[in-house]
Amino acid sequence: MLTKELNERVCVTGGGTPAGEMMRRYWQPVGLSRDLTAAGKPKQITIMGEDLVLFRDDRGRPGLVGLHCSHRLTSLAYGRVEDGGIRCPFHGWLYDVEGHCLEQPAEPEGSTFKDRIKHPAYPCEELGGLVFAYMGPPESKPLLPNYECLVREDGTRQTSYYTINSNYLQNVEGAVDAVHFPFLHTDNWSVKKKVLFAAPKPTLDLKETDYGIWQRINHINPMRGNQSDHHAHFFMPAGFMRIEERREQVLKYQSWYVPIDDTHTVRFQVGFAPFVNGARYQWPKDEPFTPPGPENDYFRDYENVDTICGIPGWSAPGTAVKGFLCQDNMVNESQGPIADRRRELLGSLDTVITAMRRVMLTAITDVEQGRDPKHVIRDAAANHLVRVAGDDPPEMA
Ligand code: FES
Ligand SMILES: [Fe+2]
Repeated sequence: MLTKELNERVCVTGGGTPAGEMMRRYWQPVGLSRDLTAAGKPKQITIMGEDLVLFRDDRGRPGLVGLHCSHRLTSLAYGRVEDGGIRCPFHGWLYDVEGHCLEQPAEPEGSTFKDRIKHPAYPCEELGGLVFAYMGPPESKPLLPNYECLVREDGTRQTSYYTINSNYLQNVEGAVDAVHFPFLHTDNWSVKKKVLFAAPKPTLDLKETDYGIWQRINHINPMRGNQSDHHAHFFMPAGFMRIEERREQVLKYQSWYVPIDDTHTVRFQVGFAPFVNGARYQWPKDEPFTPPGPENDYFRDYENVDTICGIPGWSAPGTAVKGFLCQDNMVNESQGPIADRRRELLGSLDTVITAMRRVMLTAITDVEQGRDPKHVIRDAAANHLVRVAGDDPPEMA
């Protein structure tokens, strides 16, 4: 349970808000490298309530600058990327990736007006196929963490993102909450529930770490009928790591939940698969899909699909379902645009949820009081590979 005040404190992320200031102390993914071609069409995006334009200049540098031109506020997303920056379509002002105004073609010869323009711009870095931006105070900019999924070279990566119509926090909570797995995601439910209900109750270990929370849950997988450990790690400020073991192959996935605004979120994911005996892992084909939502009932088929909700976990190609995405989206979105945590009644295994909120609220207070929040990395020597695997103790810069 959170009071109305605490709920807002951790959910609302616009500029100047407590959580907004905390979230701006970290690098946040804002796009995929492969979607940005040099001098290609600029892309309008919103991050934490700020309207921005993302582009790659003709020298290959990613840029994230304010959407509205500093002259008369026209959208730069309709501009052209050329001549070392992005040019406004209205009167041709040209901005580089650092927000300098390079040209004002209609101003008189010798004018120094352009030198006094400071267009909003945020530094960008690319790693592992993601474009990250830092939107906090320049003097507080940390290092971009060298996460394993982003930097390992002994395998292949897959990057993706999708948008969600609810507040970021309930989606991180849904990811970190491992208890839901055999309920929400079990197929053949009418049969498998007997296995689940006869099994020992799940147990949970968790530990606060330098990066967030390490968690191990032991519960039954009703599909396989075996009792197993499952790990779901929370990393600051709003991320999630999981490990999937398939025979010899150990896949690792890392996700970032980035607020678009207070009721919309974009989830970026990087998956990493090491080579096995020199062979590349075959990632599933990244097909276009219709986002699941109330408008299509999350592709629910109550009469024919044997899950609790009637939403399938896997589906034929060409439909919306990607893994468990429809089911997860439904449970998170149906809490409301921003879950009203005054009304929740938490169970004994929701300790990971309360621990995560406590870590975030502490980070918010740290920023307010002038301290670095948890998992802000400044020491390059300590910014090494982050490995969180199986039962290994958490290890991170
Ligand atoms: S509004 Fe952009 S150059 Fe005038
Ligand atoms: Fe799930």
